[in-house]
Amino acid sequence: MLLSSLLKVVVASLCLGSIIAQKVTQDQPQVLGQEKEAVTLDCKYDTSDSRYSLFWYKQPSSGGMILLIRQDSFNQQNATEGRYSLNFQKARKSVTLVIAAS
Ligand SMILES: *[C@@H]1O[C@H](CO)[C@@H](O)[C@H](O)[C@H]1NC(C)=O
Repeated sequence: MLLSSLLKVVVASLCLGSIIAQKVTQDQPQVLGQEKEAVTLDCKYDTSDSRYSLFWYKQPSSGGMILLIRQDSFNQQNATEGRYSLNFQKARKSVTLVIAAS
């Protein structure tokens, strides 16, 4: 299964409650993984906002976008949500999604 085609990240600004798409780069063209195995997906972003939120979504082939996990820029800790966790490196503008084995 091509996880990169299923997982997209969106960076949005909290400013005024508006959602302003910023620059997001995912350098891995694809990541192959077996179900239930661990996988790591890299993502770099760019934004001029001082406060922002980062969202990782899953896009099933049936369509739609399922929110997996979010990271707020002011949060001093990496977000965790079940199997999903983030390695958020604010200074590097990097937010890696780690899916733990299950
Ligand atoms: C997230 O975890 C990584 C690896 O342990 C660490 O380098 C980084 O500083 C953490 N980020 C935050 C926002 O806590």
